Order: sequence, then structure tokens, then C-alpha cells
Amino acid sequence: MSTTLTPAELAVTDRNLAMELVRVTEAAAIAASRWIGLGKKNEADGAAVEAMRKSFDTVQIDGTVVIGEGEMDEAPMLFIGEKVGRGGPAMDIAVDPLEGTTLTAKGGPNAIATVALAERGGFLHAPDIYMEKIAIGGGLPDDLVDIDAPVAENLRNLARAKKCDVSDLMACILDRDRHKELIAKCREAGARIMLISDGDVAGVIATATNDSEVDIYLGSGGAPEGVLSAAALRCIGGQMQGRLLYENDEQIARARSMGINDPNQKYTIAEMAKGDVMFAATGVTSGAMLRGVKRIGQGAITHSIVMRSKSGTVRYIEGHHNFAKKTWTPT
Ligand code: FBP
Repeated sequence: MSTTLTPAELAVTDRNLAMELVRVTEAAAIAASRWIGLGKKNEADGAAVEAMRKSFDTVQIDGTVVIGEGEMDEAPMLFIGEKVGRGGPAMDIAVDPLEGTTLTAKGGPNAIATVALAERGGFLHAPDIYMEKIAIGGGLPDDLVDIDAPVAENLRNLARAKKCDVSDLMACILDRDRHKELIAKCREAGARIMLISDGDVAGVIATATNDSEVDIYLGSGGAPEGVLSAAALRCIGGQMQGRLLYENDEQIARARSMGINDPNQKYTIAEMAKGDVMFAATGVTSGAMLRGVKRIGQGAITHSIVMRSKSGTVRYIEGHHNFAKKTWTPT
């Protein structure tokens, strides 16, 4: 249901939305935290999805999930095309209720619950396939790195702009066999590498925050995670390029059916997340950016980041939750 609001009402709703969003990621993170280290990634994911879905009911938007848990027939909740929110401005939503399911199952670092909002049509409708990604932080000259340029050249350009040596740079890369050549080229060029086992949304954001030593993110990961990462960098500042990677004709056909005309297009941040974008994430397990959920008897402490592209404001929020006073029941 789309409600017509006066401009004054819209401005208030608009400002409150970023704060509303964090409730959604907090609920997902608290629910997932029950499963940390228990070796059950599907259960952890399911708990996060259900909690996020419920808490969306209180958010004043007429929302449509465009990056979600899959198609309607494969995902019971937060599926692509699902309507969420209690009515308000029309918004598109990108969710990853638990980014880092395996990390959570193993109690590893950097698992987060995350969501982004944009005006209708603001997000690239990325299919659930791989995307090649390159990202660097903000405050650097435009077009400093390019997904099509040799790795050594990108690293040289970045080092020159940061007035350091390539050997001072830290590249973040998912530890996967498919990245063997990329890792070898980075090492050959002299850069240091942080290999992560999962969680490339946090890996991309790490290029843009002072809390991390990462200078550049390289390699392929999920395309939906790519859109969420682009949404975050649009808010916090940074540069990113992505290109969809296809394993078969079926994936190309699927991308076309989602409106992607040129399967080889190189996407910039603005082409993945445009207009006024809001992004929120809550730590499930601790990492450089966010602390994980601390459960204390009948409550929990959460640590979240909320940001908005229009204002450029980045907020870190520590939430102290009393389960006895929640309208929803954390498990
Ligand atoms: P999940 O939370 O869905 O397990 O995703 C974790 C993740 O590491 C993402 O951050 C990343 O984009 C993707 O998986 C990489 O996929 P793969 O594990 O197939 O290399």
C-alpha cells in the first residue's frame, strides 16, 4: 500500500527511516547470534530472515524486496518481489539478513545482518550469481583503479595516490581456489594480502573505514552482496566496479529477464545503487567494523552502523535490548 504523505511528513519519515532500518538489522543479528558456533548455518540464516521479516512490519515504507533470499518458489520470506513495510514512501530493498552464514556457524569474525533502501528503481536487480569486484575507499582521485586493468597497475596507481609503496598496501581477497592467480599477481606486485574466509560486504566496506587496514578489495563473490557493498560505499564514500560472471547460458537468460541487457557491463557504484540510499548493518560476530551481539541474560547489546548517501552521515549505534520489553520474542 502506498500512502500519500505531505512533503513535511515525508521529510520526517525520510529522516527517521535510517534509524528504523537499524531495528531491522538488530533483530536479525540478535536472532542469528543464538546460533553462533553451533555448526548450523541454515538455522542461523532462517532465524535472521524470520526476525528481519517480522521487524519490517513496523517500518513506514511501501517496500519491495529487489535483492533478497531468492525467488518466491525457493524462499518463504524476503523473496524477490515480496512487499514489506506498513505503508509509506515507495522504496526498493536489498537484504542479506545473515551475511556470513558459515562464519556464524563456526563463530568466525565479521558476520553481519544487513539491509539497504533506495528510492524505487535505485538498485541493480542482480541475479544470485558471481560478480567480479574491485573497491577502494573515499577521498581518492576518480577512476584510479579499473576492473579491466592489470592488478599490478591498479596497485601502483593506488599506492601513488596514497603516497605510499605498493608494499604498504593491504588487499582483501576471499580465500578461494578461483583467486589463486589473483593472489599470486598481488604478491608478485608486492602488496600485502588479507585472505578472508567469507563476508565480502564487510571486506569491501573495510576499504572505506578508518577502523581497518584494508586499502583495496579484489576478486569475485556474490552479486547480491556486490549491490549491498555498492550501497554502503555510496553512503560512506569510495569507488567500486562490478561485473557479473556467468557460468552458463541459463544464468545469462536469467540476468536478461531481470532487465540486464548487456551481460558484460562493467557497473559503477551509481549503476548498482543510485539516488538517496540508506544502509544499515549490525554485527553478529565481531570484526574490524562492528562488535558482535553480546547476550546478557534476558537481553543483548548490539553494535550497528547506519549511513545515508543524501546527508553523508555515518552513525555507529550501540543498542541495549531488554527482551522482556520487546514486541517480538528473541529466541
Ligand atoms: P553467505 O552468507 O550466503 O554464506 O555468503 C558468504 C559469502 O562469503 C559472501 O560474502 C560472498 O559474496 C560469497 O559468500 C562468496 O561465495 P562463495 O562462498 O561461493 O565463494
